[in-house]
Amino acid sequence: MENESQSHRVTASDDIEISTYLELAKELRGEQPVAEPKPSPGERETIVVIDFGSQYSMLIARRVRECHVYCELVSYDTPWEKIASLNPRGFILSGGPASVYDSGAPLALPYIYESHLPVMGICYGMQTIVYQLGGQVSPGVRHEYGHAILHVSVENCPLFAGLPPSLPVWMSHGDQITGMPPDFETLAYTESSPYAVIGNDSGVFGLQFHPEVAHTPQGKTIFENFVYQICGCQGNWTSANFIVESTDKIRKQVGDGRVVCALSGGVDSAVTATLIDHAIGNKLTCLFINNGLLRRDEPERVLNTFKRNLRMDVVYVDATERFLERLKGATDPEAKRHLVGNEFIKVFEEEAAKLGRVDFLAQGTLYPDVIESASAQTKASAKIKSHHNVGGLPTKMKFTLIEPLRYLFKDEVREVGLALGLPEDMVWRQPFPGPGLAIRVIGEVTKEKLEILRSADWIVMNEIKKAKLYRQLWQSFAVLTDVKSVGVMGDYRTYGYLIAVRAISSEDAMTADWARLPYDLMARISDRVVNEVPNVNRVVYDVTSKPPATIEWE
Ligand code: XMP
Repeated sequence: MENESQSHRVTASDDIEISTYLELAKELRGEQPVAEPKPSPGERETIVVIDFGSQYSMLIARRVRECHVYCELVSYDTPWEKIASLNPRGFILSGGPASVYDSGAPLALPYIYESHLPVMGICYGMQTIVYQLGGQVSPGVRHEYGHAILHVSVENCPLFAGLPPSLPVWMSHGDQITGMPPDFETLAYTESSPYAVIGNDSGVFGLQFHPEVAHTPQGKTIFENFVYQICGCQGNWTSANFIVESTDKIRKQVGDGRVVCALSGGVDSAVTATLIDHAIGNKLTCLFINNGLLRRDEPERVLNTFKRNLRMDVVYVDATERFLERLKGATDPEAKRHLVGNEFIKVFEEEAAKLGRVDFLAQGTLYPDVIESASAQTKASAKIKSHHNVGGLPTKMKFTLIEPLRYLFKDEVREVGLALGLPEDMVWRQPFPGPGLAIRVIGEVTKEKLEILRSADWIVMNEIKKAKLYRQLWQSFAVLTDVKSVGVMGDYRTYGYLIAVRAISSEDAMTADWARLPYDLMARISDRVVNEVPNVNRVVYDVTSKPPATIEWE
């Protein structure tokens, strides 16, 4: 581990300049300085992403994690005490929808400038820096959205290490910098933005473009340069370190207690259970409730993996009939979600009671859920779907929650799963909704319809796998619509169901693009579905992205 002065790239001579702008910042706000953080060697290093409400904030966090550096996304008004406990090594200020000169616009808290840590402001984050440190931001004469070419105007700037002098970037801003704060210089420009990248000698940088989006192809290098060259991070955020750290934490938390974990067959609960098993072995019992809404062969596969291969203690409950009985007559998507969710809780409670004393409940909550539920408390967001999850059990239960994946993104969960020895097909399983096939059978759910859907879905999955597209796609599945149409088979008229095929690419399910599957593949899927699945005579492909559609049809 490097010592502090190396890691922050702040030297004694820089102190004069730091204090100059810190004085200026203090003067501007009339606030007291906070203590400089002193990260102790060996502790987990964190890049703190300050969220000003950009739609890309979560993407910034993911990019940092891809550099094997831990980061957390926190609201712009998070107090210093919380930040200090994270052992921060640098700050990234996100973009955001506001204008810095609006009254009530969110601004960076004083500790960001007073901590002597490197800062990288992106878009609105850059404008905040400029505004707060004495520069000028104005409404742009014309808004700049889309591709631009960035020209680096200085030599040997660590932020651009390993990059060519010109590179494509993605812009999305209305306001622009019209006056630089004292001691800052222009590091790069585009045709429309003379101050596309600015910085000072104290490690404070502003980027007008978005390095976090895929449209800035070399954005990853910029993040790597910031976290390694400028913040001096070690890159010790790896699956192996995570497993060691969390195993230790779980052991301490559980002590002599007993843990129960609901397996859904999905990667999140699978990794949660395996990690806890790794930590405490026979003090864990897994409950696998078959709600009758799973895909073909799924219950057998899950049981094989956990009971036979991993030799874990799994209680299997076949509650198919109960769930189907509850769903009788229900057609409204939200009603179906609630029925499945509530029935799951009942079955879970009954089965958990049979296990005797249980102190802890393990859940596979991931970081995007944590961020979303935190921001849902601060943002007035419209409810689109209630997303009843099999893992989402009520808080009235008398268990203490263990959520070891609470700070991981999906790709990190997969890496941890592989490192723990989970089979690849389980680790790479595409996400599957808690209410299962109930929300992929449009309208009322019946045994007959579930069987039709299972057969069609099986064909879709197998053909996608054969085409080696399964991992690339976020999800690919069949939907049984409530439409029937006329067809002809042999010399006979048919009147059968319509199957819709949905295949999408996505990074986080918040937005999604419909996948441009090869025509030959679509033809094979269609041929097989109409030939092999009784009562289906037509197949359509869903060519809608999210938004405006959602991924699931219900
Ligand atoms: P939508 O349809 O909202 O889906 O675009 C986004 C992602 O969430 C999954 N999904 C659910 N997951 N319970 C879940 O556990 C649900 O009720 C639910 N509804 C949708 C969906 O499969 C996609 O990955």
